[in-house]
Amino acid sequence: MIPAPRFAGLPDYPFPRLRSLLGLPAGAALPGDAVDMSIGEPRHGVPGFVAEIMARNMEAYGRYPPNEGTPAFREAAHGWLCRRYGLSPGAIDPHAQIQPVNGTREALFMALQIFAVPERLKRPVVLLPNPFYQCYAGAAAAIGAEPVYVPATAETGFLPAFERVRPDLLDRTVAAFVCAPSNPQGAIAGRSYWRKLIALAETYDFGILADECYADIYDRVKPSGILEVSAGRWRDMSRVLSFHSLSKRSNLPGLRSGFVAGGADLIAAFRRIRAYGGAPSPLPVLEAAAAAWSDDAHAETNRALYREKIDAAERILGNRFGFRRPAGGFFLWLNVGDGEKVSLTLWDEARVKVLPGAYLATEVDGVNPGAPFIRVALVDALERTAEGLSRIAATL
Ligand SMILES: Cc1ncc(COP(=O)(O)O)c(C=O)c1O
Repeated sequence: MIPAPRFAGLPDYPFPRLRSLLGLPAGAALPGDAVDMSIGEPRHGVPGFVAEIMARNMEAYGRYPPNEGTPAFREAAHGWLCRRYGLSPGAIDPHAQIQPVNGTREALFMALQIFAVPERLKRPVVLLPNPFYQCYAGAAAAIGAEPVYVPATAETGFLPAFERVRPDLLDRTVAAFVCAPSNPQGAIAGRSYWRKLIALAETYDFGILADECYADIYDRVKPSGILEVSAGRWRDMSRVLSFHSLSKRSNLPGLRSGFVAGGADLIAAFRRIRAYGGAPSPLPVLEAAAAAWSDDAHAETNRALYREKIDAAERILGNRFGFRRPAGGFFLWLNVGDGEKVSLTLWDEARVKVLPGAYLATEVDGVNPGAPFIRVALVDALERTAEGLSRIAATL
């Protein structure tokens, strides 16, 4: 018997895959001179107020937290949504339309179950961008859906053009994942992109899982969000779930804290699933997270640090490898010809660890759209990042 047969068709997760490519044992520390640009783990430091809040609330670890979180957390998330997207306070109900989660990865995975409706369709379809955050494929596998990978390449502005999917597939579609600002390409979605997607979802009756965890990391243009568009159109945002995280915005990937906001019925359904199988966010985490969502100054500092590193990349790489300033997020998506081969070379010759683009994409009709690329995470301090980029430029 194959354990977990629904997952049998999926490749190993990108990071173990990269370790085996580079011959690195799991858990082993990298050599001191190595520059790790492979993982999207912000290293700008935890905001100063977090430790004090956690310490003050330690005794709350002695209590089971409620599934729906605390009013203070939901109100802080609501306050951020209103400031960030210019929503009027009544556009979204902080209690019925916002649900805390332990980071967006598990939330994206779990929320797709809302759309698993075997009685409606023999084989539901889930739309995914290609390349994509790998969690989406796992989520589609978990509900037994057929994943349809939609190119998100230079030709489509690095966002999936879902309207080009064949109508017979759209007829069977129950949900679409979309990521903006996108990982790995750094594309941002304008209001017309969101509007078109919502209209398509309405025509074909499917849900949208909008992964917006990089919403607060942007270069020159503040990315629009699906909630500001759906708030204007349907007050109940009935087909929309939007996923937000403190991992990137607040340099807190280890806190495991984010939230999902969207249609009240979808949030209610998600809460019900979590009531059976979710781990509610701990109370001290919710306290610290509420403070982080309420403070925009540290996010602005973060953006400034990322801009400095993108400036450095522009200086060091010039127009090599199809370099473009990422409009959002903190990854460079560089066309190096053969991403896997180059990742190995960069490790062996320069001790720079980057991720082959192929590991973030799926082969469709014999073509893996990520294969020519490497993904380079600008997550370290400026000097170390510039050192890594200089080694890349010198080696290739
Ligand atoms: C596109 C995207 N979505 C979701 C996540 C999950 O982040 P978290 O679970 O830390 O909120 C990540 C993390 O790397 C990501 O890049």
